[in-house]
Amino acid sequence: MPSPASDPAYPVGLRLTGRRVVVLGGGQVAQRRLPALIAAGADVQLISPSATPSVEAMADTGEITWHRRRYEDGDLADAWYVLVATQNRDANTRASAEAETRRVWCVRSDDADAATAWTPATGHSAGVTVAVLTTDAQGRDPRHTAAIRDAVVEGLRDGTLVARHHRARAASVALVGGGPGDPDLITVRGRRLLAEADVVIADRLGPRDLLAELPPHVEVIDAAKIPYGRFMAQEAINQALIDHARAGRTVVRLKGGDPFVFGRGMEEAEALVEAGIPYTVVPGISSSISVPGAAGIPVTHRGVAHEFTVVSGHVAPDDERSLVDWAALAALRGTLVVLMGVDKIGRIAQTLIAHGRAADTPVALVQEGTTAAQRRVDATLATVAETVVREGVRPPAVIVIGEVVRVGPDAPVAPGQHPVT
Ligand SMILES: C[S@@+](CC[C@H](N)C(=O)[O-])C[C@H]1O[C@@H](n2cnc3c(N)ncnc32)[C@H](O)[C@@H]1O
Repeated sequence: MPSPASDPAYPVGLRLTGRRVVVLGGGQVAQRRLPALIAAGADVQLISPSATPSVEAMADTGEITWHRRRYEDGDLADAWYVLVATQNRDANTRASAEAETRRVWCVRSDDADAATAWTPATGHSAGVTVAVLTTDAQGRDPRHTAAIRDAVVEGLRDGTLVARHHRARAASVALVGGGPGDPDLITVRGRRLLAEADVVIADRLGPRDLLAELPPHVEVIDAAKIPYGRFMAQEAINQALIDHARAGRTVVRLKGGDPFVFGRGMEEAEALVEAGIPYTVVPGISSSISVPGAAGIPVTHRGVAHEFTVVSGHVAPDDERSLVDWAALAALRGTLVVLMGVDKIGRIAQTLIAHGRAADTPVALVQEGTTAAQRRVDATLATVAETVVREGVRPPAVIVIGEVVRVGPDAPVAPGQHPVT
């Protein structure tokens, strides 16, 4: 007999690999529960005359074995666990009676009181399973348990719920792309790693606001202020990553945008490999796409631009260190996105015009995109140099060159023109 409804359930984790689990009924309940049973490696035997298309697909791929018939007495022989979820209450009652006789733990979708086991609301985060059960049958409130589960999993994922590791961990570094600046635009993984860090070495660009939320014991180092003496600044940053990791600290290198888009992320990764320190890379939302988007500019648009090219403008086109073929870029009709180009935009615009790009090609400069200070300044290739000076545009800014600048409701409308929609 099931225990009295007031007795609390005893929580446990079942290890079902290769063990026979019988599921009765192939409807929505089975559809929701089967993936976790499959993930646990259970030998799932589904007994049901019909099944939802998703459940059928699991049978088709061999993840479960489907017996297309109704439940019969004896079906629970050799089972370790049974999920009773048919539409037929009489069949459910007979099956749970058989489970009781055979001493098989039995979940019933139609009657929690009659069940000998309850399924908790579960979620996963970074190798941990969170399972929430109501204390007793009388207090059962599945929506409330699901809400608690969501709150815990969400908090662990986004780092607002911090559960530090206490097992000694090997030295490691995470190169985390922090996105363009808005703290909501870091990835879930990036935020979680940040919450677990002992040391954060951060760039000026990126989600600086997140640093203020870190607990006081976390050492936050401004990458631009690491003294570099006889080293290059980047070498000093690499060395700081290595030194902190070797001291047994969990290190996050928080970078603006994506670590591998003009971010020198691979130089850091190579230095770590050379030092024998394991690292992980967490991609970030690059400013090259997100900052134009935040200012209402799509880098591609059907019928307007079928390509976009992201270029560094940190050296001028006539500088011998430049690796950019500006003449070839001038010949393209798609979108050009220039990063680090505010200082050189006059010479860049001249070069593009000299190689055939129309002087009235629209240009937009988006400064401090996705932050509270974001602003957009519009110009053309012919006017951009003097516009930058007149408007006092300063880095960081993303410069977008091409017809996409005229797309959308935020586009400037020249007299007699209409935005492209
Ligand atoms: C060294 S690059 C790093 C790019 C970064 N890894 C990325 O993927 O966005 C720095 C340049 O990115 C651009 N940038 C980064 N964040 C920006 C933002 N929030 N607003 C405007 N431009 C930004 C500017 O052109 C800036 O000079």
